[in-house]
Amino acid sequence: MSASPAPLGRPTRGTTGTNRLRRVDRWIARHPSLRTAADDPLVIDLGFGASAVTSLELEARLRRTRPDVEVCGLELDPERVARARAQLERVRAARTPFRPDAHVSFARGGFEVPTARRPRVIRAMNVLRQYDEADVADAWRRMASRLDAGGLLVEGTCDEIGRVATWVALGPDGAPQSFTLSLRLAELEHTSVAAERLPKALIHRNVPGERVHDFLQSLGREWERAAVVAPFGAVQLWRQALSGMRAAGWPVQAPSRWRLGEVTVPWTAVEPR
Ligand SMILES: C[S@@+](CC[C@H](N)C(=O)[O-])C[C@H]1O[C@@H](n2cnc3c(N)ncnc32)[C@H](O)[C@@H]1O
Repeated sequence: MSASPAPLGRPTRGTTGTNRLRRVDRWIARHPSLRTAADDPLVIDLGFGASAVTSLELEARLRRTRPDVEVCGLELDPERVARARAQLERVRAARTPFRPDAHVSFARGGFEVPTARRPRVIRAMNVLRQYDEADVADAWRRMASRLDAGGLLVEGTCDEIGRVATWVALGPDGAPQSFTLSLRLAELEHTSVAAERLPKALIHRNVPGERVHDFLQSLGREWERAAVVAPFGAVQLWRQALSGMRAAGWPVQAPSRWRLGEVTVPWTAVEPR
């Protein structure tokens, strides 16, 4: 880790929680970028928050796909880094449910990602939410520029308990590639819950005339139309809604993941006008 006297970014609230990021972790674990990485892929948890838990969970989940993964949690706030390191000591002492040999470390850093090695993946969840929309492009560019070739930046937002999550995936050139919405289908009343949890680049664009607004409106309509299959379960309802989206011309990807409550579309389908 090279010295970084002034990490890039602005201090924000550190709210986090156990299991909050499971939906995005599951997506990263299956992503070709991680699966095809060379040895010991470095994964950054940028803005891990008030506790070490989501970095530890990220390592535990990615390890199933890549046992050689190394996760480094980065934070602007030095007190949060110190707290996470103290929690890691407890992990090493086998006093937590996490593996004592978890490949996890913590350091101070911001959007400049001051690691000696280039990361394969950067996960930045619930970080840009507290910034201005105008800050997004620069933050994306800085983080993406640190990725290795074939790397992946995942930047998004979710609710406190991880039932509603959305994220943008970007490549090393800083260009957004896709937008994913992931919902816990059990007990889901309506897809409109996603509107409050859009990534910063989209949340202010959910207004008539913008693509993301059209997307959420269409998804809502198809969800309501699919209600006839509700007796067959929430997954069937969701599948039916996404089939309706496809029939309506939306470039909905990865049907194999629909059962998980996910929908992914190319960024061009939702990007701001
Ligand atoms: C709301 S918490 C999110 C914690 C965790 N990622 C989650 O989703 O549960 C946001 C954290 O991001 C940190 N943060 C904000 N800007 C940052 C930056 N540029 N670089 C690193 N951390 C940053 C804040 O200090 C805060 O602890």
